[in-house]
Amino acid sequence: MLPVVTRQLTERFEVILPFNDIDPDAIVQAAAPRVQGLAVMGTPIDARYIERFPKLEIVANFGVGYDNVAVYDCSARDVVVTHTPDVLSDEVADIAIGLLIMTVRQLGAAERWVRDRNWLQKGSFPLTPGTLRGRTLGIFGLGRIGKAIARRAEAFDLKIRYHGRSPQADVPYPYHADLEDLAAACDTLMIAAPGTAETRHAVSEGVLHALGPHGVVINIGRGSVIDEAALIDALETDRIMGAGLDVFADEPFVPRPLLIRDNVVTLPHVGSASVHTRNAMGQLVVDNLVSWFEKGEAVTPVPETPITRRP
Ligand code: NAP
Ligand code: 8YV
Repeated sequence: MLPVVTRQLTERFEVILPFNDIDPDAIVQAAAPRVQGLAVMGTPIDARYIERFPKLEIVANFGVGYDNVAVYDCSARDVVVTHTPDVLSDEVADIAIGLLIMTVRQLGAAERWVRDRNWLQKGSFPLTPGTLRGRTLGIFGLGRIGKAIARRAEAFDLKIRYHGRSPQADVPYPYHADLEDLAAACDTLMIAAPGTAETRHAVSEGVLHALGPHGVVINIGRGSVIDEAALIDALETDRIMGAGLDVFADEPFVPRPLLIRDNVVTLPHVGSASVHTRNAMGQLVVDNLVSWFEKGEAVTPVPETPITRRP
């Protein structure tokens, strides 16, 4: 957890910090009977974990995505779960567009060309088969981040389409009720959807093939949304042109076939990872915990635990 979080929480609450200890579990075990709130960053919080805390009222997740938290089990126990929406949308959208350009124009490989002295020894970097010109961007998950990506993509003259569970009222872009149908109408697929049971492997072999041989996939959402084996196969058999990935199925493990290809750009889950934005996310973790215990209200609860007041 960031200092901005621990410092402020320590001023107001008894704070237990198990993660720096040699035996974190023993610390948790000893404190569990009196713990009322958890601040978590990526930690898997499953039903068995929350059972350890009989007085638990709130789980404040550092991150807008909360696939690490068993929200329905929390809801069944009247434990509110909060997350950090909005404050990171622009930062993540910037990285999504950066990753898109890096992938289409092979900027990772181009940068390695300079560092490896190839520019001096072999000459110019080869022309890229890919370009942003004339591309149609299909956004899977036109939520807060998806819309921030769409606004930026408009400035690049990309045509925009999208898929979600339902059409959005406030956008001019064509809606596709079916993801494969969206992929068939696009050559560039931007994933900004959450990692849920429903979205798991939604980007399947069929969706990838529908994108076509000029197809590019960018994943800024969650690794579980893509069938990674199908993605590797589509890249190796030239069924698609390239992929830009900030998130992976089993982080921090990245399969070797993705690491060795010049038409794949890999980033280490850095969508929100600036000091500015991570501090803003941390502040929202603090604000949720303070508001819950001092005013009886969470600031940004997740929709699965719409508990409005502290009992
Ligand atoms: P959001 O506003 O809730 O947007 C999510 C979008 O996904 C919504 O438009 C939703 O549309 C769609 N969606 C949800 N479930 C779906 C399903 N089963 N099928 C089809 N569409 C579905 O969330 P956000 O703030 O934009 O964040 C999106 C995700 O980005 C997070 O959950 C997180 O996993 C990821 N993220 C990654 C990073 C990073 O560093 N790479 C940083 C921040 C966030 P409908 O409701 O219409 O279906
Ligand atoms: C964080 C994220 O890196 O907000 C999210 O959903 O994926 C990222 O901003 C992550 O949540 C930190 O654990």
